[in-house]
Amino acid sequence: MSVVTQPIDRTDGPLKVTGEARYAAEFQLPRLAHAVIVQSTIAKGSIASIDTSAAQKAPGVVMVLSHVNAPKLPQGGKAFIKPPAGRTLSLLQDDVVHYNGEPIALVVADTFEHAVAGAEVVKVRYREQHPELDFERAKSAAHAPKQMPQGEPDVEWGDADKALAGAEVRVDQTYTTPMETHNPMEPHATIAAWEGERLTLYDSTQYISGVREAVAKTLGIAPERVRVVSPFVGGGFGCKGSTWSHVVLAAMAAQRAGRPVKLALARPQMFGPVGGRPQTEQRVALGAQKDGKLVAIRHDVISHTAVMEDFVEPSSMPTRQLYACSNVAATQRLAALDVGVPTFQRAPGESSGTFALESAMDELAYALNMDPLELRLANYAEADPRTGKPWSSKMLRECYADAAERFGWAKRPMKPRSMRDGHALIGWGMATATYPAHRRPASAMARLLPDGTALVRSGTQDIGTGTYTVMTQVAADALGLAPERIDFELGDTLMPPAGVSGGSTTVASVAPAVKAACEQLRARLARIFAPGKESEVVAADGWLSLKSDPARRESYAAVLARAGGAPLEASAHAEEGEEKEKFATRSFGAVFCEVRVDEDLGRISVPRIVGGYSVGRLMNAKLARSQLIGGLVWGVSMALMEESHLDLRDGRIVNANLAEYHVPVNADIGAIDVFFCDENDTRFNPVGARGIGEIGITGIPGAIANAVYHATGRRVRKLPILLDDLI
Ligand code: MOS
Repeated sequence: MSVVTQPIDRTDGPLKVTGEARYAAEFQLPRLAHAVIVQSTIAKGSIASIDTSAAQKAPGVVMVLSHVNAPKLPQGGKAFIKPPAGRTLSLLQDDVVHYNGEPIALVVADTFEHAVAGAEVVKVRYREQHPELDFERAKSAAHAPKQMPQGEPDVEWGDADKALAGAEVRVDQTYTTPMETHNPMEPHATIAAWEGERLTLYDSTQYISGVREAVAKTLGIAPERVRVVSPFVGGGFGCKGSTWSHVVLAAMAAQRAGRPVKLALARPQMFGPVGGRPQTEQRVALGAQKDGKLVAIRHDVISHTAVMEDFVEPSSMPTRQLYACSNVAATQRLAALDVGVPTFQRAPGESSGTFALESAMDELAYALNMDPLELRLANYAEADPRTGKPWSSKMLRECYADAAERFGWAKRPMKPRSMRDGHALIGWGMATATYPAHRRPASAMARLLPDGTALVRSGTQDIGTGTYTVMTQVAADALGLAPERIDFELGDTLMPPAGVSGGSTTVASVAPAVKAACEQLRARLARIFAPGKESEVVAADGWLSLKSDPARRESYAAVLARAGGAPLEASAHAEEGEEKEKFATRSFGAVFCEVRVDEDLGRISVPRIVGGYSVGRLMNAKLARSQLIGGLVWGVSMALMEESHLDLRDGRIVNANLAEYHVPVNADIGAIDVFFCDENDTRFNPVGARGIGEIGITGIPGAIANAVYHATGRRVRKLPILLDDLI
């Protein structure tokens, strides 16, 4: 029986619940010093003077770094990181201030408390300039991005405007989403330690190899001299996919101080210097025939970026693949503000984009007087709408049908405001969820040890999603060993390299490498066991036997001992091949939800959600369900709560804490019913899995907005939907 798919418990669970799992800020090093960042308090200008004398004399302070005395870096601190993107870092190289909250000095002390106290007495005088902080104004000077993480900024096939003008039924509306900020439970943290010319970084990151490359390039040293260690990460969600200033600052400080330095960001420092989801304004125009067939789609997106660097929230991406339509145009523009550079935040583009597109589809359904699910089915994309390429696998039709059945959608009256329970107006809404499937190159090694257990390694990450567990399962099947007899290790650049744990790619990328390494190891063992009869060898539960002669049995440990007792090892590299050109690869889901709106107070609750997903083969049914529940909860959060409030006077995010940056608590979440289609996408990769990290947050904000309309008759085209939008 296959170990893959089984709902086994997390292999790292006991380490986590006992506190044994070591996170970046928890590594104990001798003579460890603590650094605290001093942040700018203006949005634009320069530092006229910085007085660090009081800080330098403060108890326990080891040193203060600012642009006056910081080591000069080879490229002025501009690092080029590939992938995922270039990030302009703030590394104390000059007196320019680019945004409020930018690191402008670093205080290093013997304790964290001494560093905080020292940072408080650094005095800065600025020459202020007028910042651009107003999205409405910045929009008028919007520019086209040079590139996006995936795809081109603008695409068009057919003639969308002409088809729109001639359409029998049209909707044309503008939807907005706010700035949002990642808040993993573990904020960013780095410990930097130099031993001579060699730098070790204990870092909370989604991408150890990316950190190594970025830091090496920024410091102008060979990547081989940098080791990045990250065995446990307390959540990533995109913010830890790039290397930010604090990582390099820790390395600079440790070198100057001649001792290891820890730099852990405080919660308020998550708001600004380490990215967040850009604000968007999205025009979606749909044209259809009276029978519901789409004849035109336009999706024009403007998102905010930073003056110091471009980042695109690619909200038009789902529109390019979700529905069959022969006249489609999509554009992406950027409005530059004097703020920190935004970045990837869970399902970048797909979450904000499906809110707009799926709201517009609901509006079209009402314009047509057609059931919203029927409208989706009438425009089902049997192949990639732009290229005509077949999907590697797609079971969205099954998702729609099964989720609708479980939800009871057939009983839904079309008319808004037609269901109530006392003071509560009840609404039912639905939307399509979607996220692209990609693979990245990855490698792995597997070693059989003399006691018959195996050590398997890949330089990937577990950002809390279950990489340790799933890779153990993959190795168990490929090696013919019980999962308890496998030790899977990750999170160290000394291991075979793998890509970023972002874009929902870890399982799809790393599992094929782990599988291949383990299969090679098993083949080598079979050769030792029965030379010339390898094809007849059966490997199961740590024993080899011969199909033709089942009595001939030997344990893995015994085979190794017979061969001299040395460990046996194999390595493998895996990456996508020609299938990438042959197929369109994307995951899908159908989300249905009920909202209740207090008629007098406008309070919105979401008592139940049903989500059905087509995501390829499930590697672990329990972890998969957890991923989707987490994504749906975040979708509720995005729909009803989250927003980073920028002070338009000085560019500070004013709700930079978890008391005022609202996220759901248990009482905010109702019943969540998640199920998966029985799918195995071996056209996409040898393990048949497409990745499930991000699809959960997509679709659901639109489904909630649509349910709010159904409950109240009020179409809210902005997120978050608050009670004052309804009363
Ligand atoms: Mo995802 S935004 O790549 O963590």
